[in-house]
Amino acid sequence: TPLSRIRNFSIVAHIDHGKSTLADRLIQMTGGLDLREMKEQVLDSMDIERERGITIKAQTVRLSYKAQDGETYVLNLIDTPGHVDFAYEVSRSMAAVEGSLLVVDASQGVEAQTLANVYHALEADHEIVPVLNKVDLPAADVERVKAQIEDVIGIDASDAVEISAKTGLNIDKVLEAIVTRLPPPKGDVSAPLKALLVDSWYDTYLGVVVLIRVVDGTVRKGQKIRMMASGAVYELDRVGVFTPKLVDVGELGPGELGFFTASIKEVADTNVGDTITDDRKPTAQPLPGFRPAQPVVFCGLFPVDASDFDELRSAMGKLRLNDASFSFEMETSAALGFGFRCGFLGLLHLEIIQERLSREFDLDLIATAPSVVYEVEMTSGEVVHLHNPADLPDPVKIAEIREPWIKATILTPDDYLGAILKLCQDRRGIQRNLSYVGSRAMVEYDLPLNEVVFDFYDRLKSISKGYASFDYTLADNRPGDLVKLSILVNSEPVDALSMLVHRSAAESRGRVMCEKLKELIPPHLFVIPIQAAIGGKVIARETVRALRKDVTAKCYGGDATRKRKLLEKQKAGKKRMRQFGSVEIPQEAFIKALKMG
Ligand code: GTP
Repeated sequence: TPLSRIRNFSIVAHIDHGKSTLADRLIQMTGGLDLREMKEQVLDSMDIERERGITIKAQTVRLSYKAQDGETYVLNLIDTPGHVDFAYEVSRSMAAVEGSLLVVDASQGVEAQTLANVYHALEADHEIVPVLNKVDLPAADVERVKAQIEDVIGIDASDAVEISAKTGLNIDKVLEAIVTRLPPPKGDVSAPLKALLVDSWYDTYLGVVVLIRVVDGTVRKGQKIRMMASGAVYELDRVGVFTPKLVDVGELGPGELGFFTASIKEVADTNVGDTITDDRKPTAQPLPGFRPAQPVVFCGLFPVDASDFDELRSAMGKLRLNDASFSFEMETSAALGFGFRCGFLGLLHLEIIQERLSREFDLDLIATAPSVVYEVEMTSGEVVHLHNPADLPDPVKIAEIREPWIKATILTPDDYLGAILKLCQDRRGIQRNLSYVGSRAMVEYDLPLNEVVFDFYDRLKSISKGYASFDYTLADNRPGDLVKLSILVNSEPVDALSMLVHRSAAESRGRVMCEKLKELIPPHLFVIPIQAAIGGKVIARETVRALRKDVTAKCYGGDATRKRKLLEKQKAGKKRMRQFGSVEIPQEAFIKALKMG
């Protein structure tokens, strides 16, 4: 296809503004699938995505559209993940196309992810076509939302396309706008191959599938290619496109999006953002902006039942096949036994993996409190990257601890602004800006990521009754007055409960943890002190009173069956206890204590 008849685009939107519904309509209108094949929301392929309504992996689809000028165009739609945790994947997907449809729900207006995603599109120099969706709703206010787009994003919205993805109204106008308002790609077919590795995933039938955007040159079946960052060389088995059905093509030229397969074993052998070139005739200059994805949030995952360890290991291996940004290594904890220290791109990523482990592999797990990656500078000058608070070196040898900070943007109805400002302030936030987007307040804060990983999302949602939207980007590492809070049960430290906290929050967090554990640890025949400590200094204490009488005493000695049942029940319960010195802590106590963060 000549470059002039190719258009590559993405759809950017806040969650629920109708991105998937519009994509389905575009596929339907251009005949990529017949009605029978048209499953709802074909682009969201994983069940779990469909249920949660979020798109995890970028996918692409090639559409064929006969425009009003009589020409037939190839339209490549790339689906981008909408969530902040996958920001790097979003930016790579954006780099693979020239334009974006900016979809805004006309009854809701601009939201935090609308902004975050449109900024990615602007950074990639996209031409942007504003699309106002859901104009069928009585609450739709087209003029107000147009004004918002102009005021807040600063792009002309006067000829925004007004559509209803649900009823199909004006979808034809969207297709025309793609052809007439978005630029064709540029590229040189005679230059050495240069292609962007946009995404990769594991497919049971095809193995590792690599999604690429060709910039210069061509890729074809049988060709030997080289991945420039990793240096790996592969011979291509298949080259093709998705319509969204898989179709093999002989080759892909400049401006085209498609996939290849080769004998690549794992997704981890491919790096999103890498440049692919011809092994025999390589390009001199790789594409700009490559960086490997780094996990930013870590937590320990342990099987509730120790005998599930091997199963957990194999399940994690399977998930990792398809998700190179998820990492894990074995960890042992005195409290929780054998498990894994896992790294994630963010909190949502953590939640998704945890949910998939329990749902798809039927595993019962205990997760330790999430932790960010701290930079610990030793007095010797050495810098240690700390993923697990339990591994904090001896404080006397530490010169400084630095923690990651984020830039957060929150949009909220005015009514909840006060409570949200207080929440950010309580989490050591530094306010950077406060402005208005229509009737909604937009606040920008610098926040320590450490304060966000605990329960920030949940608190934000609950104090705003679900109306506030939130987005962030990682900023930098800053020194912090951070201390390790240890929890001691009967004078024994419980490793799984230790955490790094800001000194100012240590006492209150320690107190809450002790109170909670007091409720959760059953009485023994002796008194059990529960303490929170920083180094050797105890900052909070509770006591579990000693058990005075045998538990069976309350059966009045009379009913033998009842007594036996009670003892059996106790025995069964014991299996799920962990021994700490002479104290037994029920598994439940860990789960509950860790839940509250
Ligand atoms: P994520 O996949 O979660 O990012 O959401 P999305 O932006 O893809 O939104 P999706 O297409 O799943 O639509 C969200 C909801 O809005 C669904 O319940 C749709 O049926 C509904 N919806 C989409 N377009 C329209 C529309 O034009 N009018 C009305 N009334 N509802 C719509």
